[in-house]
Amino acid sequence: MLHLHAKDIDRAVAALQRGELVAIPTETVYGLAGDATRDDSVARIFACKGRPNFNPLIAHVPDLAAAERLVEFDPVSRRLAERFWPGPLTLVLPRRGDCPVSWLATAGLDTLAIRVPDHPITLELLRRVGRPLAAPSANPSGRLSPTTAEHVLAGLGDALAAVLDGGPCRVGLESTVVQVLDGQAWLLRPGGLPRQALEAVAGPLAQAEAAEQPRSPGQLASHYAPHCPVRLEASQVAADEALLAFGPLPLPGARAVLNLSPSGDTTEAAAHLFAYLRDLDALAPAAIAVMPIPREGLGEAIADRLQRAAQPREAT
Ligand code: TXA
Ligand code: MG
Repeated sequence: MLHLHAKDIDRAVAALQRGELVAIPTETVYGLAGDATRDDSVARIFACKGRPNFNPLIAHVPDLAAAERLVEFDPVSRRLAERFWPGPLTLVLPRRGDCPVSWLATAGLDTLAIRVPDHPITLELLRRVGRPLAAPSANPSGRLSPTTAEHVLAGLGDALAAVLDGGPCRVGLESTVVQVLDGQAWLLRPGGLPRQALEAVAGPLAQAEAAEQPRSPGQLASHYAPHCPVRLEASQVAADEALLAFGPLPLPGARAVLNLSPSGDTTEAAAHLFAYLRDLDALAPAAIAVMPIPREGLGEAIADRLQRAAQPREAT
């Protein structure tokens, strides 16, 4: 896999136009990108991740005008897009009749998940490629999402042409996924845009319970998993465990400690979450003990990812 930088953007554009895959930086996590209109590129994405193919992908576009060529906007979704794009918000919207996105990318659904990522290199790339790019997080299915180019290089090997290095991801958690139905906004996946910001524009969010519709097909219980067990809400820690701490008073006694935010800030904690889980996992501790983290701000999405990391592992 080639390691490209901003000055090499031509090579990334050319690879994508040939139907190859390139890992791209976004403000949330690195994406494994391919031309969303080509079945062969999209099939390669699923193969490269080892992803269950019922799980549809997000299409990335450079602006709202490009999105309007693919999907039909209702008024609430349009307001959300105008307010939060570019940014960590994915909207699930009906495909237009002439939408050229591969049916494989949407797993046969007549809706398309779409967003405008807030990263200068990738916005430039999207403008130059001139096609929507399908991009799930650039990690093997079920494992931790990558927030640096080095994470991508370590996880995916040579099934993709290149990783375009845009530095560490600013937000560090995947986008928030929202679908508006009859004027009501549903939270399908908590993520990098906090609930409060969304509710200020769309009113109170509805959230599906486990068995209800609408759901995000990708929300498998076990996901974002390190190799070692994860233990949540720790109030003490054993000598053979690693500690993922939060706040000014890390618990004493762990083999190793990384503190997500010594000052107790959930935005800072989100930016470090996946990288610190990786670093502690690499020490092969008996378990990673995680201190309680408040649900405010990005704390809701952090809790969602940690719940999944702590689940007994499903075969994916
Ligand atoms: O921040 C992000 O969203 C990153 C970066 C690379 O943009 N991408 C990402 O993609 O997290 P992925 O594929 O790991 O997650 C996409 C989520 C899944 O939960 C999937 O089920 C949901 O979006 N999704 C995609 N299409 C959908 C649809 N038509 N209806 C409902 N949910 C959908
Ligand atoms: Mg993912």
